[in-house]
Amino acid sequence: MSKVIHDCVVVLDFGAQYSQLIARRVRELGVYSQILPFNATADEIRALGNVKGIIFSGGPASVTQEGSPRPDSEVFRMGLPIFGICYGLQVMSKMLGGEVECPEHKEYGIANIDIIAASPLFEGVSRNSQVWMSHGDRVASIPEGFRQIARTESCPYTAVEDRKRNFYGVQFHPEVVHSLEGQKMLRNFVIDICHANADWNMGSFINEAVDAIREEVGDKNVLCGLSGGVDSSVAALLIHKAIGDQLVCVFVNNGMLRKGEAENVLSLFGQHFNIRLQYADAEDAFLAALKGKTDPEDKRKTIGKLFVDTFYNEARKCGDISYLAQGTLYPDIVESRSPFGGPTATIKSHHNVGGLPSDLKWKLLEPLKELFKDEVRALGKELGLPDELVNRHPFPGPGLGVRCIGEVTKERLDALREIDAIFIDEIRKAGLYGEIWQALADLLPVKSVGVQGDERTYREVCTLRAVTSQDAMTADWYRLPYDVMQKCASRICNEVSAVNRVLYDITSKPPATIEWE
Ligand code: XMP
Repeated sequence: MSKVIHDCVVVLDFGAQYSQLIARRVRELGVYSQILPFNATADEIRALGNVKGIIFSGGPASVTQEGSPRPDSEVFRMGLPIFGICYGLQVMSKMLGGEVECPEHKEYGIANIDIIAASPLFEGVSRNSQVWMSHGDRVASIPEGFRQIARTESCPYTAVEDRKRNFYGVQFHPEVVHSLEGQKMLRNFVIDICHANADWNMGSFINEAVDAIREEVGDKNVLCGLSGGVDSSVAALLIHKAIGDQLVCVFVNNGMLRKGEAENVLSLFGQHFNIRLQYADAEDAFLAALKGKTDPEDKRKTIGKLFVDTFYNEARKCGDISYLAQGTLYPDIVESRSPFGGPTATIKSHHNVGGLPSDLKWKLLEPLKELFKDEVRALGKELGLPDELVNRHPFPGPGLGVRCIGEVTKERLDALREIDAIFIDEIRKAGLYGEIWQALADLLPVKSVGVQGDERTYREVCTLRAVTSQDAMTADWYRLPYDVMQKCASRICNEVSAVNRVLYDITSKPPATIEWE
């Protein structure tokens, strides 16, 4: 763990999907926030330097169960302010002598709290503020030194404080947008209670990341898989800024790219940014490996493995390589495996996380792994990436392979490339591209009967999907205007002979994911 230069608020992660969101909200206040596993020792926290306070995240466990996660008890004796959120409040209460119970009536969703005592945590917050509750357990009795500062009808200890020790706790989630004044509460904690200096921004992130990369890499060489998407582009530029020509980028044409992708990447990075760039044409190898495969995880793992094999091959041409760099973001990690061994469920193997072999012969360098997409975009702007690339919709590592539902073949990919290009073109023409988080087309292994001209056709079906999202963890389907849908459908059926039917996907995430596979 490297030392931080800025004031820092540590988030101890008890396994909530929201942990990174808390860190992000703190960063939005201009204060650096670092996530550590729930069992980080007081010494490990101290070793970061400049830690001004600690937030205990929520988590899916119940403190009433044996073996549920507990922080190092020394953390309570560090003299630092602590803010427990949901499970964080419960574990703090339990460890300091209070009681936690599993009530019959559980409170989920929106609630209005009743603030019953003045507290620095609630400075400027309205008395009946709306919050988001999401946990089954609740505190039944509070530890000595604590007092109740807010309640709801079914939860007496909705918020508590021990002002002497500067310990605070809330049963709800101030970090989510449904808690309307949650950010004010976090601000009160971070700025007024912890007295953290708000001097952290993307410029300082760059400086610290550059130093950290130099320190880690030394005089070794790094290979970076560049896909042309925002994440790997920003990772490559950041690493290039740190170590210049010790970085070699490899652009793999796996045959599952979008229209014009290869040309664009080669000209931007090779010529404009002057980065050492190798082009690997591996289309045939990928298509051969995917032949006959239809299971989504099987496809993802096959693609991930072949990426690594291709990098190995390319690496032989680049001299001695010690690191493989990737533009992995935090949501990729959360959804692929539980961070820090916590209890979050695996949803998909993102190729740049889950598909790597356990005996990978290089160390991984993932300088963006604690950032959210919008933070990466801000970083890209600072590093001089053109707006068009920075604002590009996310595109999955396995590319059109996971949008060609069922078996992946060259013919189906060619059709999908055209469909994707038409869909994006129409969205851009309608001036909607920037409003949409991500727009994607999928080709389904389902045929339907159509009539074109005077002829009966029997062709595949494609679906279009556009979503809005903050960070890809949740998403809502985008209400695409009917006339745009109509233009897409008619152009696709006219211009792409492989399909005769177009559907629009109206599922949010959850229950669906953004990609179909
Ligand atoms: P899902 O489909 O899980 O996707 O809701 C969430 C976001 O992640 C993108 N995605 C990936 N990104 N490698 C990536 O770099 C991958 O393997 C991968 N799979 C999905 C997806 O496009 C969406 O933005």
